[in-house]
Amino acid sequence: MSDSQDVNASRRNLIVASATAGGAAAVGVAVPFAASMLPSERAKALGAPVEADISGLQPGELQIIEWRGKPVWILRRTKEMLDGIKKSAASVSDPNSDVPLQPAYAKNEFRSIKQEVVVLEGVCSHLGCSPQFKSAESKAEMGQDWNGGFYCPCHGSKFDLAGRVYKGVPAPVNLAVPPYAFLSETRILIGEDRKGA
Ligand code: FES
Repeated sequence: MSDSQDVNASRRNLIVASATAGGAAAVGVAVPFAASMLPSERAKALGAPVEADISGLQPGELQIIEWRGKPVWILRRTKEMLDGIKKSAASVSDPNSDVPLQPAYAKNEFRSIKQEVVVLEGVCSHLGCSPQFKSAESKAEMGQDWNGGFYCPCHGSKFDLAGRVYKGVPAPVNLAVPPYAFLSETRILIGEDRKGA
């Protein structure tokens, strides 16, 4: 599948909604982190927690915010996506998240507080590139054991939709889950977990 076909496939299946600007962009391309998506300069300088409003985040959509200079993905997973994570268990190298790259409350099958909403640092655990979303329809490109996830084009690492790294790729460990907490059904605090789930 060509890059442009893949981008189109991604468009059909997943829309990136910006955290605050309300704009949308295709996943699978380099998503610019517009100034309007960023927390305040003061918050950035302090490395402070940032708040995400996910009230408009629909199933299958990915929202990107920036925290401590890194992209953080908030993906509202569909039932099909959760089923895909189950199917990927045999293909990933740390299915139980034994490497401590997540808070204790995210050390579970779906690596999240709520099954449908996952929060991941969008930074490849190999050398720090930002992986791209690849839908479950990308099996021809990604392999028959692909059930949707993230692909890092820098050196070919693959991650499932829980951020678990596939076996046999350069990235050594899963994507990190930052500390986070639900302030309400529609508001997530990224970077701090003191308020709990
Ligand atoms: S930085 Fe992602 S595979 Fe190397």
